[in-house]
Amino acid sequence: MTISKRPRRLRRTPAIRHLVREFELKASDFIYPLFLVEGENIKEEISSLPDVYHFSVDRLEEEIKDLMALGIHQVILFGVPDVKDKLGSQAYAGDGIVQKGIRRIKATCPDMYVITDVCMCQFTDHGHCGILDQAGHVINDITLEYLDKIALSHAQAGADMVAPSDMMDGRIGSMRKALDLGGFDHVPIMAYSAKYASSYYGPFRAAAHSAPAFGDRKTYQMDPANGREALLEAQLDLEEGADILMVKPALSYLDVIKDISTQYDVPVAAYNVSGEYSMLKQAVKSGLMDESVIEETLLSMKRAGASIIITYFAKEVVKRLKEKAIG
Ligand code: PBG
Ligand code: ZN
Repeated sequence: MTISKRPRRLRRTPAIRHLVREFELKASDFIYPLFLVEGENIKEEISSLPDVYHFSVDRLEEEIKDLMALGIHQVILFGVPDVKDKLGSQAYAGDGIVQKGIRRIKATCPDMYVITDVCMCQFTDHGHCGILDQAGHVINDITLEYLDKIALSHAQAGADMVAPSDMMDGRIGSMRKALDLGGFDHVPIMAYSAKYASSYYGPFRAAAHSAPAFGDRKTYQMDPANGREALLEAQLDLEEGADILMVKPALSYLDVIKDISTQYDVPVAAYNVSGEYSMLKQAVKSGLMDESVIEETLLSMKRAGASIIITYFAKEVVKRLKEKAIG
């Protein structure tokens, strides 16, 4: 009989698999995105995002209760306003769509943790993430003042956390100061730190009517060709006061998630964006792949080092986890 030099590999029975498992998906990992629209009694499937809906504020209650029942206690809100203008004024209006949504959610369910996306692109008529000069270029420092106003108005409406997604320089420091001065030093900032100029946002822009009217976002979002630069972005955000660092998109940027989570001891969030969602959704719907590809994909983000995943898959994955736990 030969004696092997190393222990024999574990036989992968269900019990052992469970015992040696390194990562698991759970409801508290997820942040579920919600799209809010003006109007009444609206719950409409978004054509670019199957099984995801536009909600009017009065229809939020049932969705929030549904999420709570599943154990998903974190949402991120995106507003799709009726009125857009040069300055994105509906983004910081006291009765803007996001502000109304926050108040409604908090009134029905104070325990739902409400995060808001802070940006201008859904609210400006030109679709860019900031204020433009005559030539159509984003003016960084003036944009900061507007982003601060947006974040403050969200906090005043009751938001638990803000998540700036604009990629302007110095926005975290500026927003931290504005929140602190406004009496919201307890409201953390989740920074979209490494946000790439990505084609994976296509289905979101169709859902949020936020595609830029001209040009692109490459002057402020990151170049997919760069990895190390993401560490610099992360470091600046941390120094300016970010509490959570986010990488977006997730799937094509697992190396960036890994690098950032190895380097910095703050929670790292992965944004499993609209294109990643719709791509897999189509593949599963057409029978190309089994739905377990979804869990496999989300696990890759956790392996890479994300402890938080923003994903349109949250509800269906949690439902399947529950079925498995029972079955
Ligand atoms: C707003 C914003 C975008 C996404 C989140 N916040 C769109 C963009 O930058 O064009 C994309 C999310 C997704 O694709 O799921 N700046
Ligand atoms: Zn934007």
